[in-house]
Amino acid sequence: MEREELKKLAGEKAVEHIEDGMVVGLGTGSTVEYTLRKLGELVRDGLKIKGIPTSVHTKKIAQEEKIPLTTLEENPVIDVTIDGADEVDSDINLIKGGGGALVREKIIAFNSKKVIIVIDDSKVVKCLGIDFPLPVEVVKFGWTSTKKTLEKLDCNIELRQVMGNEPFITDNSNYILDCEFERILEPEQLEIDINNIPGVVENGLFIDLVNEVIVGGKQGILTLDKESVV
Ligand code: 5RP
Repeated sequence: MEREELKKLAGEKAVEHIEDGMVVGLGTGSTVEYTLRKLGELVRDGLKIKGIPTSVHTKKIAQEEKIPLTTLEENPVIDVTIDGADEVDSDINLIKGGGGALVREKIIAFNSKKVIIVIDDSKVVKCLGIDFPLPVEVVKFGWTSTKKTLEKLDCNIELRQVMGNEPFITDNSNYILDCEFERILEPEQLEIDINNIPGVVENGLFIDLVNEVIVGGKQGILTLDKESVV
């Protein structure tokens, strides 16, 4: 099966966690887009939910799909959030932020009773940081100084850019620094160390926030949760 089929398999499976009346956190990325499209079908068939999008892009998809939207101010407790990830380790900790939406994604995950992650099997790693640089959102003011301080944590850093070598700008009007570590052996401590640096808004390490990971693989769906990992 092609990668896209595996993403669809996982993305669509996740709607099984959604019930009538729920407030649902709507993640960002190409895998969770399959969830959003499926949810759109279910909403048109009568499912009653309210969604809180994690990005401007996801808000646009939800509106196309006629999924009713709300805000964290109106609904501070989210029943379930479905989102993607860039890497998932054996403790079901994550690197997120490939799409640049990590700040809103982390706020939504933190305020959710249940967080379900949808990925294809290429995202499962033994140790975080092996394949994917860690995205860190920083304010524009003083960003070169913030970068220098981050480099002391032993990583190589690139300012994320879009076509034409312009800096990528997040939905919160900030920059993203992609931090390449050889591997991240102590993600809990690294998350604290990075967020202690002035100028850092948030980093893409999601530690102990996830209840279940739905993995699309060649053999079908595999589910990882706290009980299944050792
Ligand atoms: C966006 C994210 C995405 O969920 C992550 O990058 C995975 O995206 P995709 O499913 O397209 O690979 O964290 O900030």
